[in-house]
Amino acid sequence: MREGKTKIVEEFGDDVILRFKDDITAGDGAKHDVMENKGSICCEVTARMMKYLNENGIYTMFLEYLPPNKLHARKLTMIPLEVIVRFKKAGSFIRRYGGTDGEDLPSPLVEFTYKNDELHDPLMCVEHLEVLGITTRQVACEIIEEARRSAILLKKFFDQNGFELWDIKFEYGLDQNGRVCLGDEISPDTMRLRRSGQIFDKDVYRKDLGNPIEKYEVVLELCRNISL
Ligand code: C5P
Repeated sequence: MREGKTKIVEEFGDDVILRFKDDITAGDGAKHDVMENKGSICCEVTARMMKYLNENGIYTMFLEYLPPNKLHARKLTMIPLEVIVRFKKAGSFIRRYGGTDGEDLPSPLVEFTYKNDELHDPLMCVEHLEVLGITTRQVACEIIEEARRSAILLKKFFDQNGFELWDIKFEYGLDQNGRVCLGDEISPDTMRLRRSGQIFDKDVYRKDLGNPIEKYEVVLELCRNISL
């Protein structure tokens, strides 16, 4: 068993069961709360988003949704990276490079950060990944293409439903055959999602803008258009 900030992973034969917890954290774990139903909402959103991606030719860990808060998933050897795809400027992009919140980028930008709270998830280029032995150039390039394709598919889904996907974070692993596979979660915790200036993602929690669960429930309702 492995326990992270928001999920518990247990072995299940050749596969795993991921249990989503009700914990919500921000600022590398500095801010932390427990919110009822948060785990089940993020789990079901992840299940439906990954099902949608599977149906559109993306290889994901998702096998089965076990209500309310568990996923049956492929076992992966995770690569310790956060892979962020940005359509608009926000958050750490603006802190690093300037610009204004919500400003369009000319094309989708893929960034790698090293998943390490103590080092505050430093930004990395492909050279860092190779030199530090995190992954090969070939796998890194495959991840860039997969992340861009997945983000564009999700943006299309949200566009069709009147929402704007500003950015999103993915995590990847290698399956038992060494194939790159999308893992972790896809939820309002891991994306910036806006509609008519309103925030439907973890920025509600990060910036103390009210009850995030009410917003997350709106996203879940939208995702229920995708059948399981
Ligand atoms: O903070 P930043 O602008 O780098 O975040 C980009 C996107 O990645 C946001 O959607 C954010 O929610 C997500 N993210 C995440 N987990 C992190 C850092 C960022 O899901 N540890």
